[in-house]
Amino acid sequence: MAIKPLKQPSSVSAAAVSLSRIAVSNTHGEDSPYFAGWKAYDENPYDESSNPSGVIQMGLAENQVSFDLLEKYLEKNSSDPTSSGRVSSFRENALFQDYHGLLSFRKAMASFMGQIRGGRAKFDPERIVITAGATAANELLTFILADPGDALLVPTPYYPGFDRDLRWRTGVNIVPIHCDSSNGFEITPAALESAYSNAESRGLRVRGVLITNPSNPLGATVKRAVLEHVLDFAALKNIHLVSDEIYSGSAFSDGEFVSIAEVLEARGGRDSERCHIVYSLSKDLGLPGFRVGTIYSYNDAVVTTARRMSSFTLISSQTQQLLATMLSDEEFTAGYIETNRERLRRRYRMIVDGLDRAGIECLKGNAGLFCWMNLSPFLKEETVEEELALWECILREVKLNISPGVSCHCAEPGWFRVCFANMSEQTLQVALARIHDFVERRRGINKR
Ligand SMILES: Cc1ncc(COP(=O)(O)O)c(C=O)c1O
Repeated sequence: MAIKPLKQPSSVSAAAVSLSRIAVSNTHGEDSPYFAGWKAYDENPYDESSNPSGVIQMGLAENQVSFDLLEKYLEKNSSDPTSSGRVSSFRENALFQDYHGLLSFRKAMASFMGQIRGGRAKFDPERIVITAGATAANELLTFILADPGDALLVPTPYYPGFDRDLRWRTGVNIVPIHCDSSNGFEITPAALESAYSNAESRGLRVRGVLITNPSNPLGATVKRAVLEHVLDFAALKNIHLVSDEIYSGSAFSDGEFVSIAEVLEARGGRDSERCHIVYSLSKDLGLPGFRVGTIYSYNDAVVTTARRMSSFTLISSQTQQLLATMLSDEEFTAGYIETNRERLRRRYRMIVDGLDRAGIECLKGNAGLFCWMNLSPFLKEETVEEELALWECILREVKLNISPGVSCHCAEPGWFRVCFANMSEQTLQVALARIHDFVERRRGINKR
C-alpha cells in the first residue's frame, strides 16, 4: 500500500514516554525520497484550472483509467433488489465474522484470478486467504515463512514499500538480488547465487525469494525461463518462493504474462508446496481504498496458519459481498479486463512516444501502471548523489514527482519510475511537455 508521509515529524522525541524497539526502529522505510516526493506534491498539487503550475503526481501507482466502468456497474447493480445493497443483507454482513471469509467472495476471487490468466491456471477457493490488501498479504507471508533475523532475497529494483512491509514488524532482512540494464534487469542464476552467498556471509538464514511479476517498478513481465530458474533455485536451496502478482491483470501485451501458477501446473504440481502467490484488487481494479488482498498458497500448513493470522487483517464482509457479486459476473469482468488492458496499452504508448520525442529512452515495458525511464545521460557522474540531485531538480523546478531508482534499490544510477495511470490524458500531456522543455534546456546548457 502506498502510504502518504505523516504531517508530524517521523522521528519520535527522546523525552516522550518510550515506545517498543520495533515501533521506533527505522525499518519503516519512510525516510526514502519515494515518500519525500509525495510531501512536495501534497503541499502544491497540480490542478488544470486552479493550480496549473503545481506538482504533477507521477509517483503514485494508481489505476484510474477504468474507474468509469466500475462506477457504471455499481450504479446499475446497487438498485437491483438482489444485490448487496438490500436491507436483509445488513444483518448477515453485520454479524458475519468467520476468518475464512465469505465462500461466495473466495469463489469469485479464485475465478477472477483464473480469468486474468486467460484460464491457463486454476485457483481453488479453499486456498484463498483474504487479507487487507497485498501489503498485509506480504507481511503475513513473511511472518509465516521467516523468523526475525532471517532473510528474503528480493530482485532489484523493487517496490519501495517492501522495505516496510517485509521488514519492519517481522524483523526479517531483505537481501537484494542485483539486476541491471545489461539484460533488461532480468534475474540471472549468477545474481541469485551471489545474493544467497552474500546473505550467508552475513550469517543470515535465507528463507525465500520474493519476486514481483509483472514488476513494479520495471513495468515488465518476468519471462517463463526466468521463472523456471528461480523455482529451480528455490528447490535446490529448499526455500520458499513468493510471487507478488498484484499487476497480473494489468499486463497489456497479449500472452506475455506467465504466472508462477502456470509454471507449477506445467510441472504437474512439483515444487508447489514452496510457492505462494500474493494478489490484490488495488491495481487491476483500481480499488486500493477497499483493501482487498489475498494470499494463495499451495502449502496446506501456510494456508491454515495464514487463515488464523488473517484475523488481524480481514476485509469487511460488506466489501466482500459487494465484490463477490461484481467479480462473479463474468460478462462484466471479461469486458473490464479487456478494456482496462487496451486503455493501459494506449497510455503506455502515449508516455513512451512522448519521452522518445524528448530523446529519452525507457525499458521496453508490457505491464503495470508505470514506465522505467533512463535519465542517466543527464547525470554529470553516475552516482546516487547525482541521481538524487536530478530528482530534486525535476521535483522543485519541473514540478513532477517521479520516483528515483535509488528508492527502489536500483544499483545503476539514473533510472526513474514514472506513473501514467493516475491522471487524465491531458495532465499526462502537460507532464510530457514539461519533461520535453526540461531536457531541451539541459541540452542547451550542456552545449554551451
Ligand atoms: C508490488 C506491490 N506489492 C504490494 C503493493 C501494496 O498493495 P495494496 O494496496 O494491495 O496493499 C503494491 C502497491 O503499490 C505493489 O506495487
